[in-house]
Amino acid sequence: MAETGKVQFLWRVLLCLLTLTLLVLCVNFAGPMWDQLDMTTSKYLQKQRQNSSDAEFGRHDRLLTAAENVTSLPSELRTILSSRDSCTKPVTNFVFIKVHKTGSASTAVILIRFAYNHHMIMCYGNRGMRLTFPRTEIYKSSCARWKEFGDRFNFIVQHTVFNKTAMDRIMRPGTKYIGIMREPLSHFRSQFFFFKDPRRYGLRKSRNPLGAFLDNPERYELKVTKNLTRSRERNKQAFVMGFPPDLLGTQDTRLMDNVIKQLDQWYTFVIINEYYDESLVMLRRKLCWGLFDILHSTKHVNKQHNRKKYVSLTNKQLQNHKRINTIDFRMYDFFNKTFWRSVEEETRKGFWEEVTYFKDVVKRVNTYCSKRKKEKHLQIPTSKWNKPFSVNGNFCKGLNRDPKVWGRKLFHQMVHSVKKKKKRKHL
Ligand SMILES: *[C@@H]1O[C@H](CO)[C@@H](O)[C@H](O)[C@H]1NC(C)=O
Ligand SMILES: *[C@@H]1O[C@H](CO)[C@@H](O)[C@H](O)[C@H]1NC(C)=O
Ligand SMILES: *[C@@H]1O[C@H](CO)[C@@H](O)[C@H](O)[C@H]1NC(C)=O
Ligand SMILES: *[C@@H]1O[C@H](CO)[C@@H](O)[C@H](O)[C@H]1NC(C)=O
Ligand SMILES: *[C@@H]1O[C@H](CO)[C@@H](O)[C@H](O)[C@H]1NC(C)=O
Repeated sequence: MAETGKVQFLWRVLLCLLTLTLLVLCVNFAGPMWDQLDMTTSKYLQKQRQNSSDAEFGRHDRLLTAAENVTSLPSELRTILSSRDSCTKPVTNFVFIKVHKTGSASTAVILIRFAYNHHMIMCYGNRGMRLTFPRTEIYKSSCARWKEFGDRFNFIVQHTVFNKTAMDRIMRPGTKYIGIMREPLSHFRSQFFFFKDPRRYGLRKSRNPLGAFLDNPERYELKVTKNLTRSRERNKQAFVMGFPPDLLGTQDTRLMDNVIKQLDQWYTFVIINEYYDESLVMLRRKLCWGLFDILHSTKHVNKQHNRKKYVSLTNKQLQNHKRINTIDFRMYDFFNKTFWRSVEEETRKGFWEEVTYFKDVVKRVNTYCSKRKKEKHLQIPTSKWNKPFSVNGNFCKGLNRDPKVWGRKLFHQMVHSVKKKKKRKHL
């Protein structure tokens, strides 16, 4: 009897040792071995996440795809399609087309936080906020360690150029596209100084570099580029938003408008920088998110202070700016109109009431986050638009976190969660 007990004990010790060895092996070799292992884990992840967003929106999508011939889709139908009263599942499958100098960095912070909270799988580029821009193509191999994350991603936030065909290939089916635009003149003023254009055009000493440039844009542009349609001062928002590069030189406004209408079919929503809080509330409604998800910092991520930016411009300068940015202007006007049309539709569903409420909550959260000494939490009670929630110091850190740092954090979460799943499978 005693003998059997001893044998059993020894067996247990042996099993224990074996398990430990396996664990150690897993920890040490998970990295290098990765490429040779099969992708079952990521498939599992994928299956689990597939459920989270697409069911509700699947029908909507198919209709839109069938109607890629823009002219054939009556606008009434589109209006009906886009005005959904109720939603059940948040969209967790989307690409943000990050247009420079439009408030897109502040938006990125909101979106990455959401992606982090929903364990989304991002196509991530290791070079700061740049993924593929200025290239117009994107492949799975553009994404860091793409083999580890299965076939399809469900989030992109870094700088890309919108290319639906290319992006649909690497993203989950039913991916939503979100864009952002800013009034073209104010965009121009901002990017002109942000990208150090005065120096580029030899206008650093000028008292009014913006005006000097706009007096005769070609004179300055041709110093640095042979091909004017590629000049960075021309239609850059349209380019990033997916306007085909080989059509950027067109003067044909009908063609411009048709392309813009086509792009509109592919975007679920375009944020308008001038109406930022309103846009976020609209985004929340379109993506079936909660009010908590769109809370943002009132500090701007890339604030610039340069008096030369705000000079007043002559009529001729303004005209020249319009002339070389016709597509941006038409596109901005189009999406601004589209935006206000959705606002009209949502007005009877308490849109403005929600905007007022949202602005107030944003203010309270930012005040709490900037003081945050006494109270551990800020409690936001239930309302017509949100379940009760609370924010704490950790949330505040995230609220003002640099989007690059946020991006790395999400990437580490992805890597970690894939490793964990793999380990579990091996035991
Ligand atoms: C996905 O949803 C279906 C139907 O609602 C359910 O049967 C299935 O278990 C879900 N799969 C996962 C991985 O959650
Ligand atoms: C697009 O729609 C128009 C108008 O309904 C129709 O005449 C045309 O044949 C369609 N083109 C394609 C490629 O479906
Ligand atoms: C968009 O992507 C597709 C597929 O990769 C490619 O064939 C096409 O040339 C791209 N468009 C542009 C403008 O680069
Ligand atoms: C200028 O660049 C555009 C966009 O890349 C291209 O379509 C066009 O052919 C170029 N023009 C010349 C003269 O090279
Ligand atoms: C956007 O559209 C609204 C409604 O049509 C208009 O009142 C407003 O001036 C437009 N905004 C800009 C910046 O053009």
